[in-house]
Amino acid sequence: MSTAVTSLAPAAPLLNLLGVSKAFEAKGDTTQALDDVSFSVQRGQFVSLIGPSGCGKSTILNLTAGLMAADEGEVAFDGRTVGGPNRRVGYMTQDDALFGWRNLLDNVALPLEIQRIAKPQRHARAAEMLARVGLAGFERHYPNQLSGGMRKRVSLARTLIYSPEFLLLDEPLGALDAQTRLVMQLELRRLVDALGLTVMLVTHDLHEAITLSDRILVFSKRPAQLIHELQVPRTGDQPPAQDVQTALYAQLWQWLTPEQEHIHD
Ligand SMILES: Nc1ncnc2c1ncn2[C@@H]1O[C@H](COP(=O)(O)OP(=O)(O)O)[C@@H](O)[C@H]1O
Ligand SMILES: [Mg+2]
Repeated sequence: MSTAVTSLAPAAPLLNLLGVSKAFEAKGDTTQALDDVSFSVQRGQFVSLIGPSGCGKSTILNLTAGLMAADEGEVAFDGRTVGGPNRRVGYMTQDDALFGWRNLLDNVALPLEIQRIAKPQRHARAAEMLARVGLAGFERHYPNQLSGGMRKRVSLARTLIYSPEFLLLDEPLGALDAQTRLVMQLELRRLVDALGLTVMLVTHDLHEAITLSDRILVFSKRPAQLIHELQVPRTGDQPPAQDVQTALYAQLWQWLTPEQEHIHD
């Protein structure tokens, strides 16, 4: 077929980290967070980062968002070095950071308000995003009237309102009860697929990584080095069959155990 020629060219990655190292100075001590980390993320991929607590996963998200700079190496987004706040990413952390005195519409519309978009337009867009996350009809509610899962939905709607291409999710569902978490995981993947987004998710939940991702990157204890990587064999929009998930879980656990043992050194 005539499409063969174009398909020979490998797609350029949306994100590329090349030899990235990063240290922090605090009270005269130096903490080496990342050591020579290289990987790339293709457009449309859902990638999870796992590794011991404090190893440097959030630092990778912060570098991608352009909130801090690498000491060595390069972080490139869509072929360009990230040299300041990266406006093409949406960043969602564990803390949902909703403003209690603002109703849901005004919480979700906040990023557009900062951009000085007129009220009718930003409210229309915020209502659209609330509907996207299953909260149509709750526009005039206040955060304290919501369950934990609903607050996460609002936070996600606010992250999506300025149409980011790349989502950075730092343990976004960590604080939820198990059942709400499962529902949110399914909806998150569905929404990401529907919007064609690229995702980098930090999670300590191996099941979550397996059911949501196309690819899982495993990092060592600090300073984080990329030690293993795993492709998750998804079929269409479905996670792998239960027996495959069990095998992947065992593999990840085996890779992580030697890393975890040193945590309390
Ligand atoms: N802004 C900062 N200032 C000082 N130290 C930091 C800063 N951010 C992260 N660190 C340190 O860098 C290491 C890695 O942190 P982080 O990336 O948050 O790990 P993870 O997300 O894997 O738990 C930790 O020891 C942390 O205390
Ligand atoms: Mg972290």
